[in-house]
Amino acid sequence: MKSELKNLLAVGMFCLLALLGTGCGQEKAPKLVMVTNAAFPPFEYVEGKKIDGIDPAIIRLIAENLGFELEIQDMNFESLIAAVQSGKADIAAAGITVTEERKKQVLFSMPYVVTKQVIIVKKDSPISNSADLKNKRIGVQHGTTGDMYVTKNIQEPERYANGPLAVAALCAGKLDAAVIDGEPAEVFVAQRPILKILPEPLTAEEYAFAIGKHNPELYSKVNSELAKLKNSGQLDEIIAHYRQTHSQNAAQTQALDKGGLWEQLRSSFEINFVKDQRYLYLWRGFIVTLKVTFLALIMGIVIGFTVAVIRSAADQTGKLKLLNLFCRIYLTVIRGTPVVVQLLIIYFVIFGAVDVDKVVVAVIAFGINSGAYVAEIIRSGIMSIDRGQMEAGRSLGLSYAQTMRCVILPQAFKNVLPALGNEFIVLLKETSVSGFIALQDLTKGGDIIRSQTYDAFLPLIAVALIYLAVVMLLSTLLNGLEKRLKKNE
Ligand code: ARG
Repeated sequence: MKSELKNLLAVGMFCLLALLGTGCGQEKAPKLVMVTNAAFPPFEYVEGKKIDGIDPAIIRLIAENLGFELEIQDMNFESLIAAVQSGKADIAAAGITVTEERKKQVLFSMPYVVTKQVIIVKKDSPISNSADLKNKRIGVQHGTTGDMYVTKNIQEPERYANGPLAVAALCAGKLDAAVIDGEPAEVFVAQRPILKILPEPLTAEEYAFAIGKHNPELYSKVNSELAKLKNSGQLDEIIAHYRQTHSQNAAQTQALDKGGLWEQLRSSFEINFVKDQRYLYLWRGFIVTLKVTFLALIMGIVIGFTVAVIRSAADQTGKLKLLNLFCRIYLTVIRGTPVVVQLLIIYFVIFGAVDVDKVVVAVIAFGINSGAYVAEIIRSGIMSIDRGQMEAGRSLGLSYAQTMRCVILPQAFKNVLPALGNEFIVLLKETSVSGFIALQDLTKGGDIIRSQTYDAFLPLIAVALIYLAVVMLLSTLLNGLEKRLKKNE
């Protein structure tokens, strides 16, 4: 007994030391997490796998000077302030305008850019100033100062997830005007010659970085670094560099508005997929979608089977009352709330303060969600098996569990295969809301292309076709499986 205790202690000590060892061995630089909304050129945009632009460049430099390792996360604009407030991120850098309301929630660094809100319309539009906007369809980016201005002074706008999507809607004739920040507006208009910016600005604003109120030390450090960059001229250099890069790139998508239908389609294909290897967004997104779907599927099946067996056993034997109650609450909650809301809760609330891979979050969310549906499908399968089979199994001397495993479940599985297949197809398509937590799945990949080319048509069609192809393949496989099982009967 004594020696056992000793051994246990020794093992414990060893583990502790090992843990401590891994903790201090590598002396990693502390991390600085920056959040942004990367569809706002030249301030921030996605390029390949990287988020680049004026804001990332400035923060990268500041992080370097302060000895931090920088991590940049992309999210919805309207979540940025909450992210630094809650401590999920250290700093928000996203062309954020300093406003009185926002000042109540976060600390703002010294401003680094002066800017304005402008109105974009089509060149042939009858709208020539803000007074003409009344009762027109006005697009804005959700949660921005453009949104606030239009809401307060004109009317309810149509809110888009980012500026480029509003601009794409304008190009497609879904809007009469878009109100967004001056510099991104110039980038957008330079690329789509059918658009123009009206001369009269709506507001005068300044951008600054936002830091949580709980973090005054970081705030003063960032501020003094920013002041240094300003004085040394480095700040102006960075800003000028990105402004210039963007005006050089402007010509790239102009072709979208030129030529006949066929010619336009051809150049649209070129711009949306070939140029800058944009097809890679779809490809990488596709891989993420498959990964999330596959892992969530497995998780869903495991949960589903467990819940279904518990529920049927409770129904048939009257035991497992507490577990059964648990399962029923799970089913009610999961089936009673939308999957997007569940995804957001898991990401922002449950994993709110910890840093986990978004793929993991998505797998957990979709796995838990799918499990509820799988559970009911399998339970209905179990219920569909004649009661006599259970009785026969038991009278042969098999236990309840054995009969379940060897007699009931195999038959139940065969019966529910079509319904299960259907659930998997639903799951695959449902993962398309992963973009809500800024996970770059297939749909989001298409969104990124749309936000770079301001073209809605081809990226959306391509995304749809890819989903369709996978679903068709899946259906064929399932049909094959069904036939094989029938043959084995
Ligand atoms: N300046 C505007 C605001 O603060 C819009 C900023 C949008 N930024 C972005 N990265 N999408 O509300």
